[in-house]
Order: sequence, then C-alpha cells, then structure tokens
Amino acid sequence: MSRFAWLGPLLMLAAVALIFILIGATRRSALLIAFIIVFSASMIYGIVRALRRRIELPPEPAPKTRGMLLEWAAPVYDFYCPWIGLGRGFRKLTLRYAGVRAGEHILDVGCGTGVLTRIAAEAVGPDGSVVGIDPGPKMIGIARKNAALENSRAVFRLAAIEDLPFEDNRFDCVLSSFMMHHLPPDLKVKGLAEVLRVLKPGGRLLVVDIDKPANPLWWLLFWPLLLWSFTRDQVSGRLRDDFLRAGFPGVERAGGRFGLLSFWKAYKGK
Ligand SMILES: C[S@@+](CC[C@H](N)C(=O)[O-])C[C@H]1O[C@@H](n2cnc3c(N)ncnc32)[C@H](O)[C@@H]1O
Repeated sequence: MSRFAWLGPLLMLAAVALIFILIGATRRSALLIAFIIVFSASMIYGIVRALRRRIELPPEPAPKTRGMLLEWAAPVYDFYCPWIGLGRGFRKLTLRYAGVRAGEHILDVGCGTGVLTRIAAEAVGPDGSVVGIDPGPKMIGIARKNAALENSRAVFRLAAIEDLPFEDNRFDCVLSSFMMHHLPPDLKVKGLAEVLRVLKPGGRLLVVDIDKPANPLWWLLFWPLLLWSFTRDQVSGRLRDDFLRAGFPGVERAGGRFGLLSFWKAYKGK
C-alpha cells in the first residue's frame, strides 16, 4: 500500500481531461467527463481488487457482542475511507487531538482494519506500543495482514470494548474512532467504563464520532439516525452524558469536523 496511491486517480483525471480538450471539448466539460470516468473506474477497480484479496481469518475465537460488526464491508473498507474524507490526513488529525507522543502505550478500540492503529504505532515509535482490538474476525484478519505488509509494530487482537482483555491501569491513551455509534446505549456506558479501568491514572481517552449536526442541512441526510437506538443519543447531542455515567470525572469537546463529527477528550483522575 503506497502512501501516494491517491496520486494515481489525480494523474488519470488530468490525462483524460487533456485528451478531451485535445479533441475539442471545453475545459469545464472535459473536466466533468474526466471526473465521471475516473471516479467510476476507480470505484470498480477498488471493489474488484478488494474482493479478490484473500483474508486470513484469526485462529482464535471471536467474542460475542451486541455491537454492530462491519464484516460485510471489511474487504472494501480501506478503499472507501479516503473517498469519504477519512484518509491519512484525518487519522493524523485524530492523533493530534489525542496528543499521542513517542514512548506511549496506546489502545485503539474498534480498530477495524487498523489504519489509525498503524499510524499511532509510527507516532509512538519503538519505545511505545499500540494494540488494536475489534470483535470482527475479517477486520482483524485484514488489520494483521496490512500491519505485516507495512512492517508495522501495531498488534491486533479479537476483543470487544465491553470486555477488554487487559489489566487495570495499562494504557496512557485509548482511541475510539467511529466505533461508539456501533454500540447500543447500555454497551456505550459499559465499554467506556472498561476503557476507564484500563487507562493509567491521568491517562486519556479520545473519541471521534458522529455528533448532533451543527449545520441544519445535514438533517436532510441524517434524520434516519434518530430512529435507531445506536445513533439516536449521538445525533441528539447526548454522548457527553455517557462518559460521566461510565465514571469519567469530566469530558471536553476538543474540536469538530464537517459540522457533524466531534472529537471528545476525557481523562482518568490521578
Ligand atoms: C466504522 S468501524 C471503525 C473502524 C476504525 N476505528 C476506523 O476509524 O476506521 C466500527 C468498528 O467497530 C467495531 N465494533 C462493533 N462492535 C464493537 C464492540 N463491541 N467492541 C469493539 N469494537 C466494535 C466494528 O467491528 C467495526 O470494525
């Protein structure tokens, strides 16, 4: 996986647009046609490539959870994330909000294919450690394969947030990226309490997830999320309460993105 893979579609876009300009199209229509062609071709290429990839499932048993898995999307997950704004830049922003430093011990809960986990492993360096957990066998299979391909020090385990297989006070920082909305309301509180248990005194949790839309236009798209118990509390702006119910002494909204996502930061007391 190259860091510069995104350059491919851009170069293709320029080349196709140039061909259309040379055969007489206006610049604007050439760009539009080139965009449609390159976008469709990239989508088809990405889907076919992802579906042909062999996923080696972990040999250990998967934990039972009432959380919503994304196993059906696992093969194409890495391909689609950058298209919806969750590329490497967004992951680095997440780590900046978390304040991840060299030498720290980090846990990424609901790590999926482990993109953020691997970038966190680069950030902590050889003196630190990063573990990603997810209850989805396909997600963990892909995360391990990607880590091996990139020579990443990140380690991946099959586990669920509500029953973390770690001793108390182990991690400096826990990351949760787009995972909270995969949990029913009671598991959010139970999972956050587990996170609090495994954090060192003074350790921190960084959650990035869907929040109440700041721009009313988002409601045109996201009103169905009010109908589902997993997301209702978040789009109603009530996720903050879950941190306090789980035992965190406080929580701050450290920032936001797209008028829809919030970065939440909560500390364990010393
Ligand atoms: C949208 S993905 C996010 C993946 C990754 N963190 C990211 O930012 O791309 C949500 C993940 O939450 C995981 N999940 C669902 N229930 C869970 C649970 N009880 N504990 C931990 N993770 C869970 C799913 O398997 C899925 O991989």
